[in-house]
Amino acid sequence: MDGNGRWATRRFLPRTVGHHKGLDAVRTTVEACVQRGVEYLTLFAFSSENWRRPEEEVSVLMTLFVSALEREVGRLIRNGVRLKVIGDVSAFNPVLQTAIREAEARTADNGKLVLTIAANYGGRWDITQAMRRLLAERPECLTRPELIDDAALEPFLATAGMPEPDLFIRTGGEQRISNFLLWQLAYTELYFSEDFWPDFDAAALDRAIASFGERERRFGRTSAQVAAVAPQSR
Ligand code: IPE
Ligand code: MG
Repeated sequence: MDGNGRWATRRFLPRTVGHHKGLDAVRTTVEACVQRGVEYLTLFAFSSENWRRPEEEVSVLMTLFVSALEREVGRLIRNGVRLKVIGDVSAFNPVLQTAIREAEARTADNGKLVLTIAANYGGRWDITQAMRRLLAERPECLTRPELIDDAALEPFLATAGMPEPDLFIRTGGEQRISNFLLWQLAYTELYFSEDFWPDFDAAALDRAIASFGERERRFGRTSAQVAAVAPQSR
């Protein structure tokens, strides 16, 4: 979700107004995903690098997180949304940590959409924390590193048990991944939108999904091989 600050600056408003508007876009997008049968939506809300922003902006973002977690849970439950937060939440203040745990617990039985919020998340952090936990749990890997492969690491990633993402959407016009789900995006289709995040809505989502529908996903195979495989066994 990128472009909140620029959305506001263009209107001669403080950047933080853009973050509030961005929350409206989150609500709209989550509901549009539920209506379209999307089963997993992962939003990059705060990266491990975002701490470098001015203290006041970071503090507004934290307050916004807490109030959103408290205010939106009812709506999430009504929509059948399960909330999950990934990232190093131990760096957040205790009030926010509690709000996160409570929102996760209250939505734990919902099954329509898994909404994952990446907060104080970084793709490199995820890979290194996964490796550390793998080695702690399976010390035999230290002497036999050949035991470590993709499948061994996967259960320790923050996204363990989730399918790999089909589509990555970045708003705000930049064309980079910025340390989002680095491992998980290996075969994901990338889509970049010029819209600032506060302007993102159901129609913008449909444009991204339509673009995804035009891609041919080969997973390393040739076009002819993909065409020869029955669609249901792909
Ligand atoms: C994204 O919008 C929101 C967060 C990272 C929290 P930005 O705040 O990055 O907006 P721009 O890129 O400055 O416009
Ligand atoms: Mg930005």
